[in-house]
Amino acid sequence: MNDTHQHVKWFRDSSPYINAHRGKVFVLHLDGEAMDHPNIGNIISDIVLLHSLGVRLVVVHGAAPQIERQLTASGASSEFANKVRITTREILPLVQQAVGTLRSDLEARLSMGLVNSPQHGAEMLVISGNFIRAKPLGVIDGVDYQHTGVVRKVNTKAIRQQLDLGATLLISPLGYSLSGEIFNANSTQVAAEVAVALAAEKLIYFTGKGLRDANGDVISELQVNDIDESQLDTYAPLRLAKFACQRGVVRCHLISYAEDGAALEELFTRDGTGTQVSRVSYEQIRQASARDVPGIIELIAPLEDQGILVRRSRELLESEVEHFTVIERDGMIVSCAALYPFETKGELACLVTHPDYRDNDRGELLLASIEQQARSLGLQALFVLTTHTTHWFVERGFHPVQLQDLPAARQTMYNYQRNSKLLEKPLATPLRVKLPQPGADNA
Ligand SMILES: CC(C)(COP(=O)(O)OP(=O)(O)OC[C@H]1O[C@@H](n2cnc3c(N)ncnc32)[C@H](O)[C@@H]1OP(=O)(O)O)[C@@H](O)C(=O)NCCC(=O)NCCS
Repeated sequence: MNDTHQHVKWFRDSSPYINAHRGKVFVLHLDGEAMDHPNIGNIISDIVLLHSLGVRLVVVHGAAPQIERQLTASGASSEFANKVRITTREILPLVQQAVGTLRSDLEARLSMGLVNSPQHGAEMLVISGNFIRAKPLGVIDGVDYQHTGVVRKVNTKAIRQQLDLGATLLISPLGYSLSGEIFNANSTQVAAEVAVALAAEKLIYFTGKGLRDANGDVISELQVNDIDESQLDTYAPLRLAKFACQRGVVRCHLISYAEDGAALEELFTRDGTGTQVSRVSYEQIRQASARDVPGIIELIAPLEDQGILVRRSRELLESEVEHFTVIERDGMIVSCAALYPFETKGELACLVTHPDYRDNDRGELLLASIEQQARSLGLQALFVLTTHTTHWFVERGFHPVQLQDLPAARQTMYNYQRNSKLLEKPLATPLRVKLPQPGADNA
């Protein structure tokens, strides 16, 4: 494949992700090390690209090495207890200076239109402010952490208002109390708290190293329940990813700040290069098996009664159940569809979503799955016989055809009394295969 074809293919393959991410809230965390890394320019460029694709962004930044440098330059130092910096009254102004400088550097970088970059000309409004109310960490084991703080409240209403205006939010590790005091919080934690408060679609940590298994390979996917407790102590982003997922964030990603394009690969390709942490999936799409027959009957029976679907006996369903794909949610079949191959074409039949679960793209998801299955069988087109749902299919790339356009074996099974409309959608793969025929009118 030459470069142009590869580019076209990549662009097409990305489009479902572009659509899925548009309008969603992503919280991105850049720690101070990431800000110092030579790849930061590419990360900024990718952040601007995400913004231009309609993703609503909140960027939280850390500043540990910058604070350290500021202290050294001023001949000061700070103490740590339990790996947490004690922000004394004396060093607080230096912390403010380091964080303030970093914040305005970031604002400048996000504003510069990125000349000579893919984002040249893209404009981005960046807003920072007192969105985080903080409280002191307090005295722990006799140690007074003074101006080291934790998040008390996130002003989600104000953040959402800014996001609605199309702005990108920039949040530093400094939070403010109602009495006007300043607290220096852990930015990794701030990011998780913000993501939870906003019920964000994604929380993305740009970290130094991805999460790796014993062989040194990146662990690409983890469900919260599978996280090994020993990993949590040593890897703060993972602990906070778990925290965030358990409190409603849909997915968290741990990706390397050192790798050019890591965020784009993670977000716009199937496999990505980082670690994705998600809640236990409670809804899944899968091939049906014999144990699903009662659930499928329950789902389709009301539509058979209304004449929208052709009646199928339990025996027929049992013998054909392997043609079905189902979406199961909490043990219930909420959506199904079947694929019956005929010579070089496949019939999509019995596409149903339970009325309580419609309008959430499950029909679309099943259609995509059936198309994928048809392609992998080498079929050239999908066709459907429908009495009530013509427009749904036409809006998804089907067009009207005549009876003689159907495979010969299917023509002989056409039920003239139902007078179904015939629609077809061409598929990309032009292979010819001979497949076994089922023996019923499947509409
Ligand atoms: C058609 C059906 C499977 C769609 O399931 P779904 O999970 O809601 O699918 P999606 O969420 O992907 O699509 C929903 C969209 O299709 C629209 N839609 C639903 N039925 C439609 C129809 N008959 N004609 C045109 N559009 C239709 C919805 O209004 C919604 O549009 P919107 O989100 O743009 O507002 C579902 O409505 C259904 O079970 N219908 C009854 C069974 C049926 O007719 N099956 C086809 C037999 S071949």
